[in-house]
Amino acid sequence: MRVLILGGDGFCGWPTALHLSARGHDVAIVDNLSRRRIDGELGVQSLTPVRDIHERIAAWKEVSGHEIGFHDITVGKDYDALLDLLKTWRPDSVVHFAEQRAAPYSMKSARHKRYTVDNNLNATNDVLAAIVDSGLDIHLAHLGTMGVYGYGTAGAAIPEGYLTVKIETPDGWVEREILYPANPGSIYHMTKTQDALLFQFYAKNDHLRITDLHQGIVWGTQTEETRKDERLINRFDYDGDYGTVLNRFLMQSAVGYPLTVHGAGGQTRAFIHIQDTVRCVELALAHPPERGDRAEADENDLVVENKCLLDYGLNPIRLADGLLMEVAEIARAYADRADLSKIPCHSHWNAERAAAASAPGKAVAAE
Ligand SMILES: NC(=O)c1ccc[n+]([C@@H]2O[C@H](COP(=O)([O-])OP(=O)(O)OC[C@H]3O[C@@H](n4cnc5c(N)ncnc54)[C@H](O)[C@@H]3O)[C@@H](O)[C@H]2O)c1
Repeated sequence: MRVLILGGDGFCGWPTALHLSARGHDVAIVDNLSRRRIDGELGVQSLTPVRDIHERIAAWKEVSGHEIGFHDITVGKDYDALLDLLKTWRPDSVVHFAEQRAAPYSMKSARHKRYTVDNNLNATNDVLAAIVDSGLDIHLAHLGTMGVYGYGTAGAAIPEGYLTVKIETPDGWVEREILYPANPGSIYHMTKTQDALLFQFYAKNDHLRITDLHQGIVWGTQTEETRKDERLINRFDYDGDYGTVLNRFLMQSAVGYPLTVHGAGGQTRAFIHIQDTVRCVELALAHPPERGDRAEADENDLVVENKCLLDYGLNPIRLADGLLMEVAEIARAYADRADLSKIPCHSHWNAERAAAASAPGKAVAAE
């Protein structure tokens, strides 16, 4: 299969590219390296020494014998370049990771809100429009987040796919299928809820084949492939904007920093190991929906159905599986690269919370 990975230099994209390449798929990456520039803007760096994209790709060729192509295209802006790539390279599938993915970053200022909306919504719409424009029957897989549903449920499991509701009309009750009600907690999550509407529209209007994988918080850093050579190492974000909770806690314990627990510490979240993320993408690509079908798979949740992926053979890595130690060891190995002043989160969502944040221990959660 030929697979184009948008955002293939990122935390989820890079190990996905290697995993699919290792399984013999023909893989190419599109990335504008914006995430690396944001590190510069925030004055932080990945805890792990992530190599330049060209060095990474060359190392993979050396280790595996497989080539991975790279295209520096801004999805959502360089429309003609994207369309041209689809038409000439003719992928069977496109995996779309090319979005700004940090909730705290999206809430830092008007500039960050505008960048996140502009980047994410135009990226998603451009990919969809370009697939239609190409005339090719390309399956699109996208990584959404469980965070679009907020962090409470009506007491029932969030269904895979659509929710059947009954609406009272003058002629009696009628049944309708709707997207599960979204309840975004940040501008970043809001863009993900809009993505879902774009997918629904293009599936209905153009019969595009789309799989939207709604994942919990991804933890871990290494996969079977990134472990093969230090030059292939994956990102490890620990800072207050991009670091996500479990990896941050493991890193904080490794460097002896007090855990940045938010509120009373009683919140629950769904987690998925990065190895399972890449496996879920592989399973989604192996089981595309038919044209006109509607598929949406949730992978991990507070209360959610993920039967579809389990039926496809996913055997999820549990927190007890020993990988917590591996992550803690990585955090210890690269502890000298950590800048402890970057651990607290300084994004405060609104004026009220900014005022409250002057009291200690009132930061907000990432992802
Ligand atoms: N990390 C998580 O815990 C998690 C959980 C659920 C869902 N997701 C979703 O998975 C996707 C990838 O997340 P990640 O953690 O790998 O993020 P990341 O920031 O590490 O990677 C995103 C990559 O996309 C690139 N990019 C961004 N906008 C682009 C554009 N317009 N054109 C080209 N390249 C662009 C960036 O340079 C970066 O390399 C996101 O959509 C995110 O919402 C992530």
